[in-house]
Amino acid sequence: MSVHSVTTEETPEKDENPPVVRFLQGAKLLGQTPYVPGNTLVEHAKEAEVRIPTNCTSGTCGACMVTLLYGEVPLPETLPPGLDDYLVEECARLGCIGKPAGDVDVDIRPPL
Ligand code: FES
Repeated sequence: MSVHSVTTEETPEKDENPPVVRFLQGAKLLGQTPYVPGNTLVEHAKEAEVRIPTNCTSGTCGACMVTLLYGEVPLPETLPPGLDDYLVEECARLGCIGKPAGDVDVDIRPPL
């Protein structure tokens, strides 16, 4: 008799899976793409066929602001003009310059 092993494939993705960048709008998953070190959130979004609006693409205007839900998108030492302490506290990140560090979930809308 074969021993049919029932694995727990339903458990949320963790450890063994390669990191993924996911884009949500509220509870709705808009798209996801494998994490590519060094790529910005906007570049990841393009891969995932999700549109994050951009304008200046240099961290100034805030058009690309998203909300970090999970994971890490490290901030530059000096905040770019498009962010301030309050926004950062609300988990705002700028898609055009923000580079995820592994698995992240972002809501493509700004926090406020
Ligand atoms: S596009 Fe202007 S801050 Fe990102």
